Amino acid sequence: MALTDVLEYKSKIRRTLITQEQISEKLKEYGELISEEYSGKPLLLVSILKGAFIFLGDISRNITIPHEIAFMAAQSYFEGTSSSGTVNITLDIAQDISEYNLLIVEDIIDTGRTLKVIFERLKERHPLSIKVITLLDKPERRVVKFEPDYTLFTIPDHFVIGYGLDCGEYYRNLPYIAEYQE
Ligand code: IMP
Ligand code: MG
Repeated sequence: MALTDVLEYKSKIRRTLITQEQISEKLKEYGELISEEYSGKPLLLVSILKGAFIFLGDISRNITIPHEIAFMAAQSYFEGTSSSGTVNITLDIAQDISEYNLLIVEDIIDTGRTLKVIFERLKERHPLSIKVITLLDKPERRVVKFEPDYTLFTIPDHFVIGYGLDCGEYYRNLPYIAEYQE
């Protein structure tokens, strides 16, 4: 159901967990790191929609070497705010990826299920290399073994919103990351 009550909307934003300034600093640091690591190599950033759309835009603008972008979408099924386990790829990359170094750009790794499926699927298509950068990691929640190559922030087990991350499709536009008031 559409949420139109601004007071109700605001009351669910419990507290700021990561500020815009903290995000900007990390973006700069990781933008430089990636620019060095992939210098002289064909780089394709693969963003997982919808949650990673803002992170993709910002990390891309902090990378100073030539690179391309592509999008994938996956649907994990949720029971409330915890993943129930099924992952469907609803949007795939059409282009040949065998000539590229892939860097998967993800918003958050929670149980690890979504990324594990996407990672294996892309690996089958033999890219030159494949790595993962995630904005957030909640290692306490892991159900399947999955380690990202780059993590901007490790956070405790609490549902978060903002900077692309949603609750019921809302709050993606918050410029910072906040804890959601259940
Ligand atoms: P997975 O459990 O690692 O497969 O994560 C699946 C997806 O759940 C992530 O890509 C997010 O879109 C979403 N998700 C997990 N934790 C949170 C959260 O704290 N806030 C918003 N979305 C989340
Ligand atoms: Mg996601």
